[in-house]
Amino acid sequence: MRLKDRVALITGGGQGIGRGIAVLFAQEGAKLAIAARSAEKLERVKEEILAQGAEVLAVPTDVGVRAQMENLFRATRVRFGGLDILVNNAGVGLGAPVDQVKDEDYDRLMNTNLRGMHLGCHLAVPMMRERGKGSIINISSVHGVEGSPGNTVYATTKGGIIGGTRALAAELAPDHIRVNVISPGAIYLGGDPGHSAPAQLSPEARQQYIDRFGNRSIIVHRYFQPLEMVGEPVDIAYLAVYLASDESRFVTGQEITVDGGLTTYMAKTPRDDLRQKRDRDLAELDAFLQANRTES
Ligand SMILES: NC(=O)c1ccc[n+]([C@@H]2O[C@H](COP(=O)([O-])OP(=O)(O)OC[C@H]3O[C@@H](n4cnc5c(N)ncnc54)[C@H](O)[C@@H]3O)[C@@H](O)[C@H]2O)c1
Repeated sequence: MRLKDRVALITGGGQGIGRGIAVLFAQEGAKLAIAARSAEKLERVKEEILAQGAEVLAVPTDVGVRAQMENLFRATRVRFGGLDILVNNAGVGLGAPVDQVKDEDYDRLMNTNLRGMHLGCHLAVPMMRERGKGSIINISSVHGVEGSPGNTVYATTKGGIIGGTRALAAELAPDHIRVNVISPGAIYLGGDPGHSAPAQLSPEARQQYIDRFGNRSIIVHRYFQPLEMVGEPVDIAYLAVYLASDESRFVTGQEITVDGGLTTYMAKTPRDDLRQKRDRDLAELDAFLQANRTES
């Protein structure tokens, strides 16, 4: 077991990537504190982890609210006596052109994605200093690494997480507290494969649709990656276990993307309008060659 008896606190642990990290950490022997806004979802993950035989504390928390975060860290200390690992995973997205972003949405992203990470680090560091070492793992996104339309505010927070991680790694190296950041690409979170089936289909056609196509979102996203697949929460969790464990004792201040090659692939799928222009130009070129060909 790679995290035997380590105490790990994971925010956004009620579903998705946070749940995936919590489940794998539990399998690796960690004692877990999980936090998210929905008590009901947290309770489900708690039951799942208890069934694995691991110890778990679930505390409904809004990571953007200092008093609630203080309560979360206090409860973790009371239950487990300290903290070794923090995963700042809670995050919210926003898809909107910059001129249509509402102030309240801007504030919500800043509060969750950036203030949440800040408060997590702020409260974890004294507890890790008591242990003489620690590992902080922040969850960013490929949107923090590269640009795409309609994601300015989300990208601003995710880029901030990467910058903050590097600065904090430098600050905390003397304390043997390592700080790294994982930037996931397209991660499919599961759920009902039928939810994307058009409502007007008959029950038989609906089943055929599900059997044949599965989930629409996977097809939409799969071909952006050179590996022709989307990831799953466990793909992030495997790296999180490595970064949390002593196997990564010489690794700090690093941003690591887990994205099926999305951000390293030069020939990315072009935008539809650019692809149409390319096809039009090539058709013109072919027509010109056809019309002007001479027998040699
Ligand atoms: N799924 C992806 O494809 C993907 C890609 C890149 C980055 N990410 C990042 O991974 C992280 C997890 O995302 P996910 O896809 O699992 O999302 P998700 O929406 O399934 O889960 C997010 C979790 O964070 C919690 N949360 C949200 N706001 C919170 C708040 N203010 N306080 C406490 N908890 C809060 C939610 O309750 C939930 O448990 C996020 O930071 C997200 O930006 C996800």
